[in-house]
Amino acid sequence: TDMETSNITWHPSLSRHERNQLRDQRGFTIWFTGLSASGKSTVATALEQHLLHLGLAAYRLDGDNVRFGLNKDLGFSEKDRNENIRRIAEVAKLFADSATIALTSFISPYRADRQIARDLHVNASQAGDDSLPFIEVFVDVPLAEAEKRDPKGLYKKARAGEIKEFTGISAPYEAPESPEITIRTDQLSVEECVRKIVEYLAENGLIT
Ligand code: PPS
Repeated sequence: TDMETSNITWHPSLSRHERNQLRDQRGFTIWFTGLSASGKSTVATALEQHLLHLGLAAYRLDGDNVRFGLNKDLGFSEKDRNENIRRIAEVAKLFADSATIALTSFISPYRADRQIARDLHVNASQAGDDSLPFIEVFVDVPLAEAEKRDPKGLYKKARAGEIKEFTGISAPYEAPESPEITIRTDQLSVEECVRKIVEYLAENGLIT
């Protein structure tokens, strides 16, 4: 056959289902999206800790470990943000496939990019095998609130024209239309936000 003559060896892999069974947990992705200073990273970090304390493998991808490494060649133009999110989605999918809970906290301002990330997970399901669930969490705060927080002074700089294409000021943020979960970090405490997400995960059989 072609296989025998081409010196290519096919390595049969564990099915995703078998991998999840052996790891005793499901892999999936929790995708946070929201304005700068909306509280994405704060809630994602607290949720990651909560999941780790439950004995689950969880790993957070954020600007600190992605924009300084894998994506250090990318800036904040629309094209670069598209590529930023595309790569992050691919990496999150690999973590999820490894039976880990991937948490991503990036602005991910474009609806189409988040849809690509979702499709990548949904279409990853092989026939009869476990799918890779994709949970979109909209970290919803009014722009005025994010701007009031302004922990890094970036909104101030953006208003002064010192940063171009700043999300919410001079670049778009397209809010999700049907996220699995919405959290208002100006109305709930970090612990309450974490509880809301954990309850969703338990109710949907993603964690036990
Ligand atoms: S994106 O849109 O998803 O590719 O952005 P992300 O990788 O999450 O990076 C957002 C953080 O980068 C800082 N920063 C900017 N944000 C928005 N617009 C512009 N032009 C910009 N320049 C730098 C900003 O601190 C964001 O941090 P967070 O943690 O979201 O507040």
